Amino acid sequence: TEGGSDTAKRHAGERAADAVEDGTVVGLGTGSTAAYAIEAIGQAVADGLDVRAIPTSFQSRQLALEYDIPLTTLDAVDGVDLAIDGADQVVDDPESAAHGALIKGGGGAHAREKLVDAAADRFLVVADPSKLTTDLDRSVPLEVLPDAHTVVAERVRELDGEPTLRDAEHKDGPVVTDNGNLLLDCEFGAVADPDALATALASIPGVVEHGLFVGLADETYVGTADGVDVRTY
Ligand code: A5P
Repeated sequence: TEGGSDTAKRHAGERAADAVEDGTVVGLGTGSTAAYAIEAIGQAVADGLDVRAIPTSFQSRQLALEYDIPLTTLDAVDGVDLAIDGADQVVDDPESAAHGALIKGGGGAHAREKLVDAAADRFLVVADPSKLTTDLDRSVPLEVLPDAHTVVAERVRELDGEPTLRDAEHKDGPVVTDNGNLLLDCEFGAVADPDALATALASIPGVVEHGLFVGLADETYVGTADGVDVRTY
């Protein structure tokens, strides 16, 4: 996704790469901020770091291949030590029960991202300050089975959401995800109770995964012009 400062994103990504320890399994997130982490991990690998990486998308797999980072899959490992991933929004309000909750899926990769991020012992979010918010008020992406998009859209309207089928920019027709599914971007305004909405969305037949990540992040590295601010949850 676009926006935010590239310097801030790079600072967050590079610091997150420093958290990757020798001999571990690391989940590689998707998007422009995670890409800085992947690049830095690639440099560490070139300098002798021993890791096995699990990409969360076609994009992160391509980057890992480009940087010669050894790849593995979720079903071939005992566990994931660390996942590093970006976000579209991060609740930054210690007073809120939703502190550290995320919206992801702006790049359509949230299903595999959630799989890998949730499997990790430590899930580290990388973000620039433009992602921080008191309320999750961007649209919530749903990955849906192709046949299900109209019935899921109807159920989203029943939850007072406004669903839009995501259209492809350089193709006539919808975006098709890495998993062969479609995306519904659902506008709910400011989400008062992300946990309750997550439960409601997850219970709709045909929804493969929604973009609310509640209670999953362990830390957020917020890149700034000259460093990184760390949030721990
Ligand atoms: C991918 O579907 C998203 O969840 C990304 O992780 C998110 O869009 C972050 O991307 P940027 O770091 O490019 O903003």
